Order: sequence, then C-alpha cells, then structure tokens
Amino acid sequence: MSKIEINNVYKIFGNNPKSVLPLVKDGSSKEEILENTGHTVGLDNVSMKIEEGEIFVCMGLSGSGKSTLIRHLNRLIDPTEGEIIVEGTDVLTLSKDKLIDFRRHKMSMVFQRFGLFPHKTVIQNVGYGLEMQGITENERNKTAMEKIESVGLSGFENQYPNQLSGGMQQRVGLARALATDTDIMLMDEAFSALDPLIRSDMQKQLLDLQSQLKKTIVFITHDLDESLRLGDHIGILNAGKLVQVGRPVDIIMNPADDYVAAFVKDVNRAKVIKAKVIMTPKDKVNGMDKTNLVKVQEDQFIEEFLPQVVCTNANCEVVDKQGNVKGYITNKELKESLTKGK
Ligand SMILES: Nc1ncnc2c1ncn2[C@@H]1O[C@H](COP(=O)(O)OP(=O)(O)OP(=O)(O)O)[C@@H](O)[C@H]1O
Ligand SMILES: [Mg+2]
Repeated sequence: MSKIEINNVYKIFGNNPKSVLPLVKDGSSKEEILENTGHTVGLDNVSMKIEEGEIFVCMGLSGSGKSTLIRHLNRLIDPTEGEIIVEGTDVLTLSKDKLIDFRRHKMSMVFQRFGLFPHKTVIQNVGYGLEMQGITENERNKTAMEKIESVGLSGFENQYPNQLSGGMQQRVGLARALATDTDIMLMDEAFSALDPLIRSDMQKQLLDLQSQLKKTIVFITHDLDESLRLGDHIGILNAGKLVQVGRPVDIIMNPADDYVAAFVKDVNRAKVIKAKVIMTPKDKVNGMDKTNLVKVQEDQFIEEFLPQVVCTNANCEVVDKQGNVKGYITNKELKESLTKGK
C-alpha cells in the first residue's frame, strides 16, 4: 500500500464546477473552459502514488496546479471529483473532528506564502502545532528553540513576523513544520524565498533529516536543480494535467513531451546521473576493450570521473562499495549519455 494515493482527481474552480466536469472529461482545454464557462481547471484527472519515506517533488510552471494538488492532501481543498487516500483512509470521508486530529498529528505543511500568525512571536509560531497537540508550554518552547536554531534564527525568537525578512519568515514556517514531527510533510515552495546559500543549506538539512527520519515529503518547487537534488520521484504538472512521473534520471533522459523537455534541456546531466544508471551490467557486456579501464563507484556522479575518463580515452569499470564489478561504461556511451535525446 502506498502512503498517499490520489485517484482521478479533478478540481474545477467556479460557481458550478460539476456542470463543467463533462466538458473537461471530453477533452476541452483549460483555455477553452475558461473562455466558454468562466471556470478554471485546477486539476484534470490527476492520479499518483507517493511511497512511504520518499521525497516526491511536484514541478510545473506557475498556475499549473501544484498548490492546488498539495492542498488536497490535507483537505484544505476538496476535489470536484476523485479520491485521496492517506495510509489507506479516504480523507474525504473524515468527520470534522477526525479531520482536525489528522491535520494535527499526521501532516505538517509549509505554506507558499508562509502563513504565519502576525500577532504571535517566532517562538509562538513555531510552537503552534505543538500547542494544538496539547503539549505544555515549557516543553513546546524547548522543541521550538531547537528548531529555531536549526533554521539559523536563534536570537529572533521573540520578534514578530513583520520584523523579519521574507526569507526569515519562510524559515519560521519551516521550523514550525519540523516542530510537530509528523510523518508526512507538505512543503509548498518551502525554500523559494531563500537566498542561494541558505537555500542550498536548507536542502542539505532536509536531506540529512530525511536520511535519519525517513518522512514522506511532498515538495513543490519551480526549480529544476532543487527537484533533481531532492526528489526520489518527480511529478510534472502542465495546466492541471500530470504529464510525467519518474525518477530524476527518467525525466532527464526521456522527457514525456515538449513541455518536460523544455524544463530539462539546460540541465547539467553530469551532475545528476550516476554511473550505475548508464552502465551496462557485467553479464551483458561482450567484446569491449578492457585494456584501459578507469574504476568508478556505482554511486558516483558522472562529473566526478568524466575528465579522467575522457582525457585518457578509457572505458569505465563500475564497482560497488565492496569493490565487486557491477558493469561497464564505454567511453562512447559516457559521452553520449550527456547529450542523448537532447
Ligand atoms: N481559489 C481559487 N479560485 C479560482 N481559481 C483558482 C483558485 N486557486 C487556484 N486557482 C486556479 O487554479 C490554477 C492552479 O493554481 P495553483 O495555485 O495550484 O498553481 P501553482 O502551480 O501553485 O502556481 P504557482 O507556481 O504560481 O504557485 C490556476 O489557474 C489558478 O488560477
Ligand atoms: Mg503555488
């Protein structure tokens, strides 16, 4: 069973969404629907599965439906049609009380526009989720201070949000989501307001946290590099439709359409493709010249061994951590992997 399952979800915004649904199902485009009915298609027949312990990144242009999608998961938005299953429970069937409980204990969210309480201080904002869980003030201040420190805001705990910069407010939102320690985290453009250095640092912190805690994280971003760095899987939305889901390398090597291709065309593949992804397994290799081999680790990125292999005109022998040979990459294959499909 997947941690989160979204089945055939449609979301149409407007006065009478149900009446417009048949047109959407018949294949009218988002522009046609808007022009002819005044309704906006938010999501158009989206289905996806998100596995426990993974970072699932959702990417797409502005207005493609990313925030709409993530807000269905904790029912800040109800679908016009379709199913949202979290840990086997159809969230649409939850009673009001159950839903409150579910939001407090199952999921935390970092909002695109921070969503901080203006009349609460930083420490009160960060501790808010814990307060809702009924945790005592002493205890929640202790946890809140830890999280405030981890996002680099020590000293600001008694300030109000309007005394902070946008990036600092975003970090307060992040600390608040981390504080409740829920096993699902929804992060809507959680790092977008941060400067490049802090952003990169936060990405690293998230990956470190993830390697210990194995949360299920749904992460929204515009930024391809961020999605490649963080995502176990990436889903790409275009005008409310999910056009591709795959591992980063699948998206880069085999973009499903021109829209996805446009996203990935400038990516530096050497930074994101690992040796094991392009090697030919040992037992499938025959007739390759093995006189001039460079040994590479299966988890090394191409950029780490590319210069040496190209300069010495060698082929690669790919080994695992114990040194066992797993496969080979010829010099030609290595060079082709950088441009194939471009
Ligand atoms: N409350 C609403 N009422 C009407 N239309 C809405 C509403 N919320 C979203 N939409 C429409 O749904 C579509 C998807 O919006 P959404 O906010 O999900 O996009 P997004 O991918 O998150 O964009 P961005 O990257 O700019 O945050 C847009 O066309 C938007 O106009
Ligand atoms: Mg958004």
